[in-house]
Amino acid sequence: MSILVTGGAGYIGSHTTVELLEQGYDVIVVDMNNSSEDVINRIEKITGKSVTFFTIDLLDKEALEVVFENHSIDAVIHFAGFKAVGESVEKPLKYYQNNLLSTLNLCEVMDQYGVQNLIFSSSATVYGIPEKLPLTEDCSTNALNPYGRTKLMIEEILTDLSRANDKWKIANLRYFNPVGAHPSGLIGENPNGIPNNLMPYITKVAVGELDSLNVFGGDYPTGDGTGVRDYIHVVDLAKGHLKALEHIHFCDGVESFNLGTGRGYSVLEVVQSFEKASGVTIPYEIVERRPGDTATCYADPTKAHKQLCWKSEKDLNDMCKDAWKWESRKRVATAH
Ligand code: WQD
Repeated sequence: MSILVTGGAGYIGSHTTVELLEQGYDVIVVDMNNSSEDVINRIEKITGKSVTFFTIDLLDKEALEVVFENHSIDAVIHFAGFKAVGESVEKPLKYYQNNLLSTLNLCEVMDQYGVQNLIFSSSATVYGIPEKLPLTEDCSTNALNPYGRTKLMIEEILTDLSRANDKWKIANLRYFNPVGAHPSGLIGENPNGIPNNLMPYITKVAVGELDSLNVFGGDYPTGDGTGVRDYIHVVDLAKGHLKALEHIHFCDGVESFNLGTGRGYSVLEVVQSFEKASGVTIPYEIVERRPGDTATCYADPTKAHKQLCWKSEKDLNDMCKDAWKWESRKRVATAH
């Protein structure tokens, strides 16, 4: 079977492409990122398999049509999109233009070529401030920033699409907090500039690129006062996509699934776990809360367990160990 992976050279996309190849799928990656070639080479090195790769911006509908014209595609996994929460607040039009129009282009071309199996990279951010915990898929949705609203809008677009044509089989995968890297140390998270997210910030402190971690808030109603999140290893997350692919034919229109571990860890627990896994001390200072943050957010992953036969397997130590191996190896690679 041939799977088209949009954004397949990105963080979660690259890890999912590895798992697809190792399961014997043929994979076509389209990505507009200028560092994609290097990532594709690393994917091929990990798997010993070749990837069909095109540097395409999904806003270029004609270029996308050529890919569908020349390849028999069975399903699409759609990762491509801008994902920085803070940037989306500063530049909402950039996010609505890119994330929505690229998805509309993709769905139109898929429909044109009779490809109607789609897995969409959604996010727990669609839940906004959790109405209850742990979060189940039927909890109310209320994104709090333009990035999260593009995810929610796309989920609604896909619902309308499937209602208009029942041939569409769609799975929305709502990620909680993806962290870590492939155990090979060859692929991982590579944010531009100063990371917004906790784990890549910690790894930059560990390698000495940043001095100290700012812990955003120490007065939340949690065990140690710092924010609690459901961190999930990116390889577990990638495997969830393959389970969704196997399940897609049974999807009744659009179905959403929480991909989380069902366990929350505080910021300080992550710091302690990272220090233990890496042997590196992480200096930190507890500062003001970050606007928009919620105290606690974690998944009830029961639906994915039952319907996708998927469950996360790796623990926080694995996440920290693999994140550290990737970051420290990245420095060695670039040091030569
Ligand atoms: C985690 C915890 C922070 C950085 C975001 C997006 C969400 C999704 C995952 C795409 C919080 C604390 C963080 C730092 C800190 N991305 N923190 N110091 O905010 O839960 O979710 O990433 O889908 O859409 O919103 O993740 O890693 O930014 O924060 O104390 O330098 O770490 O307050 O408690 P978040 P995060």
